[in-house]
Amino acid sequence: MNNATHDTVRAVQWSGNHLRLLDQRLLPAETVYLDIRDAGAVAEAIRDMVVRGAPAIGITAAYGVVLAARALPADTADWPAALEPDMQRLAAARPTAVNLFWALARMRGVLEAGATDVPAALEEEARRIHDEDLAANRRMGELGAALLGGSDAVLTHCNTGSLATGGYGTALGVIRSAFENNRISRVYADETRPWLQGSRLTAWELVQDGIPVDLVCEGAAASLMRQGRVSWVVVGADRIAANGDTANKIGTYALAVLARHHGVRFMVVAPTSTIDMDTPDGAGIPIEERPPAEVLSLAGHPVAADGAGAWNPAFDVTPADLIDAIVTERGVVERPDRGKMETLMGRMKDE
Ligand code: MRU
Repeated sequence: MNNATHDTVRAVQWSGNHLRLLDQRLLPAETVYLDIRDAGAVAEAIRDMVVRGAPAIGITAAYGVVLAARALPADTADWPAALEPDMQRLAAARPTAVNLFWALARMRGVLEAGATDVPAALEEEARRIHDEDLAANRRMGELGAALLGGSDAVLTHCNTGSLATGGYGTALGVIRSAFENNRISRVYADETRPWLQGSRLTAWELVQDGIPVDLVCEGAAASLMRQGRVSWVVVGADRIAANGDTANKIGTYALAVLARHHGVRFMVVAPTSTIDMDTPDGAGIPIEERPPAEVLSLAGHPVAADGAGAWNPAFDVTPADLIDAIVTERGVVERPDRGKMETLMGRMKDE
């Protein structure tokens, strides 16, 4: 018997009048929730990685709009205009995860529709976005786990679990579901430099769930595959372009190249809120570059020679032709291309 269904941590919590964010910068050493009461502080929390992971960023931004609206007079005449500066501040927090812009668009939709109590209508929408994400993750967990073979190990990258989403996780949701159904017996997790989302966050979640996890340095992935220790790489996404090209945490592309070389299959797990049909291919996805200091130091301690520089892109793009399956809550797209992505998203519009 395992504990795979526990999944108790919730990194983003709405208290009814303010936001509580688990400060992911302090994990696994400390579990500290920050009380956030205004939209500017929400934008800062996203930028500074208190909260991270594409779906979690979107959900957090949605609650940020709620906080912005609650700070305005109830008789505000032009809600869209009054909220625009905070909308812009939230949108500027991080550039790559499209879920941020998707969530803000959903909140704008509420403003356009009009409501007698605008803050209440926005709060309802933010809660809906949050709940839908959790439900999507559960569904993707089932769909993705069904693709995995019996009692295999998989390799994952970054953190895609409860911490990165409304709960349960995308790639980690597939892993949770697969473990619960005895389809995998072990997880290898890339440590994921420079932020160590793999060792600090993914290992923390998996240990809590009782799922065996072995950390590997990114450089060990080729040997892991060469020795036949994994049959699938399972990762999340920050933005999937219209042709299936996928931006995810830096190092994902390298794993996809290695996987193809070694006959290991490659799965991307992401809700449709991560799909950006307005960006034709990966070349159009903005890739965040973060400060060199994140590479030059570790936990605040310098790990490089004084005077060394560093290039620190936070994400890379995996071309669609290296992806065996994109798992969404709406279904699985095998060997993705533009036509299949259009069918998936068109199907969504028709429903
Ligand atoms: O920089 P981060 O930690 O926000 O990057 C997160 C990732 O790259 C995740 O893999 C992605 O957001 C999917 S989370 C379900």
